[in-house]
Amino acid sequence: MATRAKARQMAGHAATGGAGGLISVLVVHGPNLNLLGEREPEVYGRTRLADIDKELKRLGRELEMKVETFQSNSEGGIVDRIQNARGKCDVLLINPGAYTHTSVAIRDAIAAVNIPVIEVHLSNVYRREPFRHRSTIADIAHGRIMGFGAESYTLALRAARTMVEESRRQSG
Ligand code: DQA
Repeated sequence: MATRAKARQMAGHAATGGAGGLISVLVVHGPNLNLLGEREPEVYGRTRLADIDKELKRLGRELEMKVETFQSNSEGGIVDRIQNARGKCDVLLINPGAYTHTSVAIRDAIAAVNIPVIEVHLSNVYRREPFRHRSTIADIAHGRIMGFGAESYTLALRAARTMVEESRRQSG
């Protein structure tokens, strides 16, 4: 992040106009993440997606954040959901799954809605095949959290809260 002003812009206030109130978070899970718990547990762990979502909602209540979750196996479905969040949410947590490495459409949707993004991965993609080292959204994300299994999401939610609060403080 080059400047404070840029940080403020990227951690903008789409949902509240900077007025404060409940921080609204959209969590988007990409393809095959519906199979978490059964899919390659040695890589992704044994926690099911429903349990990750449940924990995010519980933690959201604790942190006074409104958490909505969404999963789709289709690129278009993810693009539609991101577009839908325009003006309605303060921060987007996204694990685009395999689309991380290929999708210009998801990158463009994120850029279009002007909602700050935290990129999340269960695995540390840099310890894996070279084709997973590239992300189409890394350079437009506010930050990236990976390698902690299901905990990557809860770490990201806590980081999201700090990011939005800091941004609200700075814009008074
Ligand atoms: C993933 C990593 C991707 O490379 C992979 O295609 C996934 C999951 C992760 O969370 O570690 O589906 O995004």
